[in-house]
Amino acid sequence: MAKKFDTKTEGLDAYVYMAKVFADSPWLHYGLWEPGERVVVPNVRQAQERYVEKLIGLFPPAPLAVLDVGGGTGEMAALLQSRGYEVDMLTPSSVQVEEARKKLAAERVHHCRFEEFSGEKKFDVVLFSESFQYVPLGDSLPRLEALLNEGGIVVIADCFRNDNFRKGELVPGGGHIFSEFVRGVEVNGLEIVGDVDVTEGVAPTMQIDQQFYRGFLAPVVKQISEGLARSRPIVHWFLARGFNIFTSKDTRNRLQERFKADYRSPENFKRVNTYRFLTLRAR
Ligand SMILES: C[S@@+](CC[C@H](N)C(=O)[O-])C[C@H]1O[C@@H](n2cnc3c(N)ncnc32)[C@H](O)[C@@H]1O
Repeated sequence: MAKKFDTKTEGLDAYVYMAKVFADSPWLHYGLWEPGERVVVPNVRQAQERYVEKLIGLFPPAPLAVLDVGGGTGEMAALLQSRGYEVDMLTPSSVQVEEARKKLAAERVHHCRFEEFSGEKKFDVVLFSESFQYVPLGDSLPRLEALLNEGGIVVIADCFRNDNFRKGELVPGGGHIFSEFVRGVEVNGLEIVGDVDVTEGVAPTMQIDQQFYRGFLAPVVKQISEGLARSRPIVHWFLARGFNIFTSKDTRNRLQERFKADYRSPENFKRVNTYRFLTLRAR
């Protein structure tokens, strides 16, 4: 059977290239926007770096051993290293591993999912910068305490679903259900010692997303389709027929919704998500 396109790996890999080309950015997380700031692609990197500085602000001072889980292109690990931390990172993506090994010693970049990460080493900080949502709660929380040195912390910056979220709804954002996460923290010998709600600051990032769908993807697809209809009407007819035959009405409607991207608004994001910067400790 054909392997399904995995948005958690291949989807993010596509984003690595897009972020690099369109926003000149090595980061794969949301931006943290100031009130009144222009939410446009040239400002994305600056907003993402504001997020990074706020996140590093939660760390105790260097030197400390850090594990950057889902470390993307290695940018955070390299930055922390330049500030005196000793950093290991891991990611399941070979595209990201290749990028990260340009910035870090190869043995510091582990090519695996968090669920598969093993070894004796313990850390003072285990960091999840928008990577916590990709690991099932049952595979992350029970493994954290054993990875921490005495007095060590877990720092999580990520999106969670709030109580308004209903499964199956076409809405932006994602992540674990926040109330389930809080219960999981308690039953796994951990406690939340820091909790900053940054939902308001990250929500404008959805405007970038909307611009991408409405202002780029939809017009490009429309132009190609109209161009083909004019220059190769028979080919266009067959492609359109094939598309209608091989996709369900539901899929076609969803695709149309995606191109319009009305649902990907900052307001809708805030309605069903809560974006947190959290610090956890062993109890
Ligand atoms: C949104 S990106 C964030 C990347 C980076 N931390 C940053 O802030 O730019 C999510 C990261 O989680 C990684 N990831 C996905 N599934 C994972 C898993 N099961 N275990 C560890 N990392 C995972 C992705 O490959 C990617 O590096």
